[in-house]
Amino acid sequence: MFRVAVLVSGGGTNLQAIIDRVKDGSLPGVGIVRVISNNAGAYALTRAKNAGIEGVTVSPKEYETRELFNKALLRAVKEASPDLIVLAGFLVTIPPELIREYPDRIINIHPSLIPSFCGKGCYGLHVHEKALARGVKVTGATVHFVNEGLDSGPIILQKPVAVEDGDTPEILQKRVMEQAEWIILPRAIGLIAEGRVSVENGITHIAPKKQG
Ligand code: GAR
Repeated sequence: MFRVAVLVSGGGTNLQAIIDRVKDGSLPGVGIVRVISNNAGAYALTRAKNAGIEGVTVSPKEYETRELFNKALLRAVKEASPDLIVLAGFLVTIPPELIREYPDRIINIHPSLIPSFCGKGCYGLHVHEKALARGVKVTGATVHFVNEGLDSGPIILQKPVAVEDGDTPEILQKRVMEQAEWIILPRAIGLIAEGRVSVENGITHIAPKKQG
């Protein structure tokens, strides 16, 4: 089995999209082995429970220092022996030791077409507020590998979504999730599980599907 650990902070609709694609057979050989949340109240944990997946909370509030939290998070990930770590709305800075331990094995979903509307302060609804404030006509979502920079790792998949007149950040967020995030995140996991994604000089290459 290709073991996936999913890190979450909130509602968990991206986690749900992965659960649904595993269930409907779109991701053969893939299993979600653990969901880790930094927030005990995250609805994502309920989604994990409903799907029979182990959920654990590692909250910074429970640790005296950031270093101790980082260590606990690394431990919670390692215990799951993941082949891939998926940040699905995980709004915590990833500890450098985790990135060093899992090079090119951590992916993140971001709700814009990187390099637009990413980096410091660009997460969740803020991303859509900024896109609307700039007046772009097309936005979208990006799945990328996580490196030590912010939203700067190699891009795996992107999908554009139209911005429409009268959009609010909430309406745009929903459209980007439905038309892009929930599609490309499971797809990227499938491509990686099939061994089709390679990284060379910061650029990813996706090999064609093997025949037979
Ligand atoms: C998603 O829109 C995801 O792209 C975004 O948080 C939301 C989580 O929703 N992530 C970021 O902004 C990361 N920079 P979910 O909990 O329903 O999946």
